[in-house]
Amino acid sequence: MSSRFSFGALAASAAAMLVVSLGASACSSSSSDDEADNPTFAQTIEPLVQDKCQKCHRAGGIAPFSLESYEDWKRMGGVAKLKVQAREMPPWGAFSDEKCKIEHKFKDDISMTDDQIAKFAKWVDNGMPMGDESKRPQRLNFGATGLLDKTNTFAMSKAFEVQGGGKDDIRCFPLDPGFTTDQWIGASNVVPGEPAVVHHVIVFVDPKGTAVAKAGPDGSYPCFGGPQLEQPSLLVAWAPTMAKRRGSRCRRAPTSSCRCTTTRTRTRSWTRRRSS
Ligand code: HEC
Repeated sequence: MSSRFSFGALAASAAAMLVVSLGASACSSSSSDDEADNPTFAQTIEPLVQDKCQKCHRAGGIAPFSLESYEDWKRMGGVAKLKVQAREMPPWGAFSDEKCKIEHKFKDDISMTDDQIAKFAKWVDNGMPMGDESKRPQRLNFGATGLLDKTNTFAMSKAFEVQGGGKDDIRCFPLDPGFTTDQWIGASNVVPGEPAVVHHVIVFVDPKGTAVAKAGPDGSYPCFGGPQLEQPSLLVAWAPTMAKRRGSRCRRAPTSSCRCTTTRTRTRSWTRRRSS
């Protein structure tokens, strides 16, 4: 899936390149002082969309296409304006209206203010000017994990071979984070070594530290139905948001996961049983 999309982005930015070099020379003389009335990409729009769009619309992000480069915006600006004005993007369902007045702000509200929407629309209507390129913010670096400012990485102690044949294998992989004091987790992600075989991952806290002993020399143990720990608590639940590739052959899967399965059916029923 991801390789298909990055191919699409590549082709598109190559095509858009021409437009940009023309545009850049055309607008280099029109550097407007009035950033508030006539916002430019470099100063107003790029910082805004880094915050409001790029957490999803980036290479490897959950949205189906990237909005990282100026070329991406030149290509998508028109439809982006419609989605932003309709408040469909960024997706944020907590509207404050007559029926439901929001009295307190939400933490991590990703919606845009009226002013931000107006500025974005104005910028598109003005032909999406770049402005003074030297004022552009630094490009966000999400890295391979998709997280900004990542502080820790935990990997499975050993790669796990997923057997072919379509049988689910739900396994637990103990990971020692090595923390000596309590830690707050601000963000997390799971990066499967072989996305084609990892159905979902649930990370539990193992307060008694008994999981390591359960895992054999494989570094993992089968744990259908739950992690089989004393007082486990759920820390992270992860599932790929994109349709999975099917029919892949079995490969060595160095997944950084706590639990993985090969097909969907049995996991579904497991999830259902757990939540009911
Ligand atoms: C929380 C993740 C997330 C954020 C933040 C986000 N998007 Fe999206 N966007 C998606 C997903 C997922 C899709 C594809 C599914 C869909 O169309 O609903 C999408 C689709 C789109 C589309 C295509 C819609 C269509 O019907 O073809 C546009 C345009 C778009 N986004 C623009 C934006 C813009 C502009 C921003 C920032 C102002 C933004 N998005 C922020 C997740 C996000």
